[in-house]
Amino acid sequence: MLADKHILLIVGGGIAAFKALDLVRRLRERGARVTPVLTRAGAEFVTPLSLAALSAAKIYQDLFDLTDEAEMGHIELSRAADLIVVAPATADLMAKMAGGLANDLASTLLLATDERVLIAPAMNVRMWEHAATQRNLATLQGDGILVVGPNNGDMACGEYGPGRMAEVPEIIAAIDAALSDGPLRGKHVLVTSGPTHEPIDPVRYIANRSSGAQGTAIARALADLGADVTFVTGPADVPPPAGVTVVKVQTAREMLAAVQAARPADVAVFAAAVADWHVMNAGQSKIKKDGNRLPVLGFAENPDILATVSHAKHGRPGLVIGFAAETDDVIANATAKRARKGCDWIVANDVSAATGIMGGTENAVTLIMKDGSETWPRMTKDAVATALAKRIAEAIS
Ligand code: C5P
Repeated sequence: MLADKHILLIVGGGIAAFKALDLVRRLRERGARVTPVLTRAGAEFVTPLSLAALSAAKIYQDLFDLTDEAEMGHIELSRAADLIVVAPATADLMAKMAGGLANDLASTLLLATDERVLIAPAMNVRMWEHAATQRNLATLQGDGILVVGPNNGDMACGEYGPGRMAEVPEIIAAIDAALSDGPLRGKHVLVTSGPTHEPIDPVRYIANRSSGAQGTAIARALADLGADVTFVTGPADVPPPAGVTVVKVQTAREMLAAVQAARPADVAVFAAAVADWHVMNAGQSKIKKDGNRLPVLGFAENPDILATVSHAKHGRPGLVIGFAAETDDVIANATAKRARKGCDWIVANDVSAATGIMGGTENAVTLIMKDGSETWPRMTKDAVATALAKRIAEAIS
């Protein structure tokens, strides 16, 4: 099941580290290749020699080990694996991850990686229940980090409660799930996201309130189903998800160029809030305040990326999905928009200020297709993304 999969296993410092040895054995039995990284605290609990012997691989311990850097730099090491597993993930490691610290090899790898990460937390029950750890957990989950456990049980410290690391078979099951062949495996999906910035001059621009949260969640949900995702994003508030190819752009015209360069695609989801116009007479240098003369900006229409791709004569993606952020007559306007733009589906939502949707964490959408529509209950943007990704997988498989 895990044949040919490469797992980078970070072993943190806790009594549960002894289970990491068994985890290495079981992973190798299933055909996986394991590269262990042992933290300084981890080395107090298991020896580098036992990890090396069980993994039959080189152990990495120190960020400043120049031999390692010559062989394989830490950036490369962080991206060479199919999955990074942290077991045990101590409170300290979780805090470092949540805070984006990079002050040893393990935390640097975790910050540098673009691969998916699964953590198996293990710590004293009070440490687990502490508001700081729970805050860090929520941050990590929001960042798309996968979590297995901890379980309730007797702890080595004599207390009882949540904090015991998940058992090895549970960790293996979580690894299997993270690496499983999803229904979109082998499919290339293009997702646009975020606002665009249209320059007025080199220091000023016109933008909109899109946070990029919905597009980011969609890209993540599609990657979770195994899709090969190209994520073309304007300057968004939220960071791009792990495990996707990120193309960063500023303007609508750059976004169109990036989308065209990323084709062909099986599916394209246009979640970006693209500016309708750009400033035709944008200054090459900063426009100076000049007495009573106010600058006059001239506008030109931006290319409509969704319509361009929907109407493409050659290599049109099999399924093209647009978004319609409306404030009045949402369904009627979105239905007309779907026909006008030539896309297959439109995800319509009401972004009038009272809904709190623009820039918020929830969304209430109606999915409009050629032959009907469905209104979904209000839910988190993550849940909308998961439901949409599932519908996409059903539609193209
Ligand atoms: O026309 P409107 O902006 O309401 O259309 C929304 C849909 O069209 C979204 O899917 C958006 O990503 C897409 N769009 C685009 N290029 C534009 C304008 C909108 O791809 N220039």
